[in-house]
Amino acid sequence: MIEAILLLFLLLNLISVIIYTFKIGISPMPSSQKSRMEILKLLKNSSNDEIIDLGSGFGTLSIFLASKLQEKHITAYELSFVPWAISVILKKILNIKNLTIYRKNYLEENLHNATLICYLFPKGMELLEDKLFEECINTEIISNTFAFRNIKARDITYVNDLYKTPIYKYLT
Ligand SMILES: C[S@@+](CC[C@H](N)C(=O)[O-])C[C@H]1O[C@@H](n2cnc3c(N)ncnc32)[C@H](O)[C@@H]1O
Repeated sequence: MIEAILLLFLLLNLISVIIYTFKIGISPMPSSQKSRMEILKLLKNSSNDEIIDLGSGFGTLSIFLASKLQEKHITAYELSFVPWAISVILKKILNIKNLTIYRKNYLEENLHNATLICYLFPKGMELLEDKLFEECINTEIISNTFAFRNIKARDITYVNDLYKTPIYKYLT
């Protein structure tokens, strides 16, 4: 009986992740460890004390950055319920103090005065670019894999992995 309940619970979670993936346009796939290291390297030079993870998935990148950059504060936004819930549980278990996680659409939030990090998809980059222009957000943005259409990257580094994953650094 317990097994059946557990199986049903896992199945419902899986269905939730699939539905949100279709609704939002991207799965909660985390940045690889090598990408996380590269992003950390770039953030170490950042003068901003606030970092926002735009679409934080299971929270692995946010938690990693919060633990490595204890002098900074990380804000994480995630819409998909299951990854968001897991990230909140992980933050509690690991007792991470300098991380705040919201189940919110970052497109409706104030993104001023923070360094932005993201690992999105082409449409997501387009919507973010529109928001940056419309709200005159001048900041540093680090994007894993995907580039903006109209903003030129200041710097591109390539992760030492199979795909030579690009990490774009922007200053808007
Ligand atoms: C590929 S994952 C990246 C996770 C994490 N940032 C990392 O690099 O490990 C992208 C996440 O962005 C979330 N997302 C996409 N658009 C969003 C939005 N407008 N507001 C909040 N979350 C969003 C998706 O649900 C997904 O979990």
